[in-house]
Formats: sequence, C-alpha cells, structure tokens
Amino acid sequence: MTLPPVEQLVRARIGLDPLSLGAATFPRVVAARMSARRVGSTADYAGVLAADPTEWAALVEELVVSEGWFFRGGAAYFRELAKWLRERAAGRTPRVLSVPCGCGEEPYSLALALDDEGVPGLATIDAVDLSPASVRRAEAARYPAFAFREAGADPRPQHFREVGANRWELDPRVRAAVRLRVGNLVAADFLAAEAPFDLILCRNLFIYLTDEARGRAVVNLHRLLAPGGRLCLTPAEADRLPPGLFTAEGSAGLATFVRTEEARPKPAAKSGAIPRPAASADAPVVPAARLDPPASTTAARELADAGNLDAARAACERAVRAGPSAEWYSLLGVIDLAAGRAGDAESSFRRALYLDPDHREALTHLAMLCDRRGDAGPASGLRRRLARLPEATA
Ligand SMILES: C[S@@+](CC[C@H](N)C(=O)[O-])C[C@H]1O[C@@H](n2cnc3c(N)ncnc32)[C@H](O)[C@@H]1O
Repeated sequence: MTLPPVEQLVRARIGLDPLSLGAATFPRVVAARMSARRVGSTADYAGVLAADPTEWAALVEELVVSEGWFFRGGAAYFRELAKWLRERAAGRTPRVLSVPCGCGEEPYSLALALDDEGVPGLATIDAVDLSPASVRRAEAARYPAFAFREAGADPRPQHFREVGANRWELDPRVRAAVRLRVGNLVAADFLAAEAPFDLILCRNLFIYLTDEARGRAVVNLHRLLAPGGRLCLTPAEADRLPPGLFTAEGSAGLATFVRTEEARPKPAAKSGAIPRPAASADAPVVPAARLDPPASTTAARELADAGNLDAARAACERAVRAGPSAEWYSLLGVIDLAAGRAGDAESSFRRALYLDPDHREALTHLAMLCDRRGDAGPASGLRRRLARLPEATA
C-alpha cells in the first residue's frame, strides 16, 4: 500500500499512528499547516517537511498529546515505585527514565514520592519527550489546577506555591531532581550514550504508536534497562508490548516487565513486584468507525485499551449472550476492574474459570482481588494453580 506522503513521514520519523488520534484529527491538522504555509498539495507539503525542520517541529507539536497530571495512576503507585527504588538502591544511586515525560508531571510525581518517603534525591530521574514545547513546560514547572486532578493526591500544600490565577509552581528543590531533555524513543540512537536505567516508566505512549514503531521503541527500552530493572507501562498498554524482549513481572497481565532473559520460571512473589497502577482515565477518543461491534476479543480489547470501556463492555455482553466463553468473560472482568467495579469483575473471572479452569488471566486477576480483600488462603490457592500451568509463550 502506498501511504500518503505526509502520513508516511510521520509514521517513519516519530512512529505515530494517525488513526490513534481519531479519524478526523490528522487530516485537519495537516490541512491547517498546509494552509498556514500556503502549500497546495500533500506531496508538496511532504517536501516542505523533509526540507524544513521548523515546519516539521510545528506539525509535530500539533500532533502530540502531551496531557498528563500529577500522580496519574494513583499516589499509591508512585509510593510503591519509591519504595522499590529504596530497596534497589543498596548504597548507590538508582537511575530512572521517564519517557515520554509529557510536561513533567510523571517524573516530578516520582521525585515527590521519593521526597514523601523521606529519601529525596535518592534516584537520578531523566525525563525525555519528543515535544520541545512539552519539555519547556516541564522546565517551567508551572501547572494549572487540572494537573492535580488525581483523587486523594494533591501535592500542592507541601510542594507548590501559587504564582498567579490558578497556577502553581513546583518547589525548585524537587525540580532539581529531574533532568529534562528532548528525544525520540523510536529513533535508533535514542539515548545512545546513556548508561542503563534501573526503572523505566513508559506510560501512555504505546497507544499512539504503530506496531512497527512499538517494535523500535521496545528495542531501545531493552537496551536501556539495567539487569534486574523494571519497565512500567499502563495496564491499558500491557498487551501492546511486542512479544519477545520483555516478560510481565509477577503475574501475567500486570503492567510491569522485566527483560525476558531474566524472567523467572514462576510468577514472582510479592516482594520486588511493583503494583498495577489504576486504569488510565484519559485514553484517546476512538474513531467512530472503530465503534462497530467487535467480532473478536482482540478488537474488544483494543476498544478497552483506547478507553472506550462502555463499548468494549457492550461487545463482551453481546458475545457472552451469543455463546459464553472464558476469553470473553475474562475480558469482561478486566473491563469491570478498569471501571472500578471489583464485585462484577470477580464474578466474571469466576465464570471464566468455570468454563476454563486454567485461564491464566482470570486466575491472575482473581488472585489479586482475593489478596485485596485479605483472603490470603483463596489467593494462594489460585496462585498455586497458576504456578502449575505450563509456561506462557511470549
Ligand atoms: C499522553 S503523554 C504521556 C506523558 C506521561 N508519560 C503520562 O503518562 O502522563 C504522551 C507524550 O508522548 C510524547 N511522544 C510521542 N511520540 C514520542 C516519541 N516517539 N518519543 C518520545 N516521546 C513521544 C508526546 O510528545 C507526549 O508528550
């Protein structure tokens, strides 16, 4: 297939899948830039982009979705990362990479969590984003109230000062813990001169990338992760990780990964595991064309991954009405978990296990739910069943 030239450039250079922005956004943005540059055809505009770095940068800034907020995924998640780093440190300074860092909320949240854990500056935190405008905003470290929308996690009283109508500036001491720069994760030379990192956060990027670009990103992440290190995605992105180089840590379905060559043969015990973050609330809008009833669990998972939980749930319900299957019930459970309906999720996972007692995903999540409400006996029974399963192939 011959891709239109502008789309081809965007896919090749930054790995963006234009459809991930919704069907209308990419054509609208390109048309607006062409009109700003008074260029009449996409072929001519592709020529301008290839020759003029300023125009390329202007287009990229229009295409990236840099929105984030403090403690996205939950304060508890960042607290656990801080604790994991403290254990990992053992007298040295662990290295953390946040890519993409958006406007800085993610790496600063980790710096704040280290501060709150009583170990400020324990780790060096490198933060990288494709968008120079986002990196500049991160350097300014001034945020609107919307950046503090994570429930139960408002760091403003201790760590920010009000600097104008509805704007707060982060304490310079916390800012100093984060080193910001521009970089492209899908470029072959991404951070080529850097030593490996103990912890890499790569959250809310894979949803925007083409399969091919995710492959390039993963090769870089593998090169940059230190032995024994952890890679963290979001749960919605966990199954977009191309197979091979990384393996889910602890139990299948979690969003934390180790290098495959270091994966233990059995699911990890609790210690050393980083918990699953809360589901992302701001996944991109799905193009209308993709809202048609999905014919497969893969398509329904894609809907759920893109944040369209209601449509994904409706697809599951239709499917189980038509012919119950463990795969559909388990997906229903995952969707209910993401929507915060633990009770419904549990009953779906139980139905999945009724149909397929060896269903790995349902066993994993049900064990986690039992753990959460303190039912240690049933949880360990489920884990024993998991441990008896044959190894999953990546
Ligand atoms: C939604 S933000 C995610 C920020 C943060 N990780 C979070 O979860 O809140 C997505 C960011 O990815 C950046 N991005 C897109 N393509 C990239 C690439 N190829 N390399 C590095 N960053 C990229 C965008 O500039 C944008 O700031």
